[in-house]
Amino acid sequence: MAIPKRVKIWEAGARDGLQNEPATVPTEVKVELIERLVDAGLQAIEATSFVSPKWIPQMGDNSEVMARLKRKPGVSYQALTPNLKGFEAAMAAGTPEVAVFAAATESFSKRNTNCTIAESLERFEPLLAAAKQQGVPVRGFVSVVCGCPFEGEVDPEKVADVTERLVKMGCYDVGLGDTIGTGTPIKVQRMVEACASRVGVEKLGVHFHDTYGQALANILAALELGVDKVDSSVGGLGGCPYAPGATGNVATEDVVYMLDGMGIETGIDLKQLVRIAWWISDHLGRPPVSRVAKALKNKI
Ligand code: HMG
Ligand code: MG
Repeated sequence: MAIPKRVKIWEAGARDGLQNEPATVPTEVKVELIERLVDAGLQAIEATSFVSPKWIPQMGDNSEVMARLKRKPGVSYQALTPNLKGFEAAMAAGTPEVAVFAAATESFSKRNTNCTIAESLERFEPLLAAAKQQGVPVRGFVSVVCGCPFEGEVDPEKVADVTERLVKMGCYDVGLGDTIGTGTPIKVQRMVEACASRVGVEKLGVHFHDTYGQALANILAALELGVDKVDSSVGGLGGCPYAPGATGNVATEDVVYMLDGMGIETGIDLKQLVRIAWWISDHLGRPPVSRVAKALKNKI
C-alpha cells in the first residue's frame, strides 16, 4: 500500500484540547479559534461535545459555540455525542455532523461513559437510527486502542471488534484513539491491520495523544498502511479527563510540518497554524508543547 498523496486532518483542539483545560475558555475564544483554523485551511473540525456538563463542564457552552460559529461551506463541523440526548441537543443547536465514542476496554468504558462497551453500543443504536433518518453523518471513535490506563496492553482484535461494530451500525469511519499515547509504530501497524481486515483501511483514521512522544512515528506507521485521516490539536492542546496522566493530542503543526516535508497535501497553511498555536497558548497562559511551533515562532 502506497503512502497517501493527500491527508485529511481532523482538528480536535476546540473539543479534545479544551475539554481538558482546567480553566474554562470563554465561548468567544473557542469560536475565534475554530474560525481561525478554518481560515488556515482546516476542513474538518471537532467543534464541541454534547456530553453531560456535570462530567465535562468545559463543554457546557456547546450550543452557543455551534450557534455563534460562522460556517464556511465545505467544512465539516462535528460534535461528540454520547447518547440520544446529546444527539438531540446537537441537532437543536444546528450541528451538521456528530461522532460517537466507545472504548476497547471495559474499565475505560466505565470511567469515560459510566457503562460497559456493550451498553455504550446499545446507546448508539437509536442515535444512529435518528441520524440516518435526518441524513446526519456520524463518525465513530474507539479509545485506548494501544493501551489502557487501567488494563495495560490491549488486544488489537478487541479494537477491531468495536471498530467493526461501529461501522456496521452506520459510522462512516472510525478514529482509532491512542488515548494515553503509549503506542509504538509496529504495535500501531498490528492494530491498524486488525481493524483494516474487518472494515477496510479507507474507513480508518488515527487519533494519537503524544504523551510518550511517539505520535509522529505512529502516524507515519499508519500512513504506510494507507490511512489518510489524522486527528490532531493545534498547539498540542488536549488530553482526556478520564485517562490519568494523558496529555494532549499530537500538535497539528507538527503533523503538517511532517506531511509538507513528505510532499503530502493537507491544504493547510503552516505559518498561519503556528500563529494560531501561539495565540491560543497565550490565552491559556503557557507556551504550546509543539516543537514546530517553538522552532518557527520567530520565523512567521
Ligand atoms: P450517566 O451519568 O451515566 O448518564 O452519564 P445518565 O443517563 O444516568 O444521566 C445522568 C444525568 O446526565 C442526567 O441529568 C441526564 O439528563 C444527564 P440529571 O437528571 O442528573 O440532571 N445527561 C446529559 N446531559 C447533557 N448531555 C448529555 C447527557 N446525557 C445524560 N448527552 C454520559 C453518561 C455518557 C452522559 C456521561 O458519562 C458523560 O457525559 N460522559 C462524558 C464523557 C466525555 O465527554 N469524555 C471525553 C470525551 S471522549 C475522548 O476524549 C476520547 C477521544 O478523544 C478519543 C481518544 O482520545 O481516545 C474521542
Ligand atoms: Mg482524544
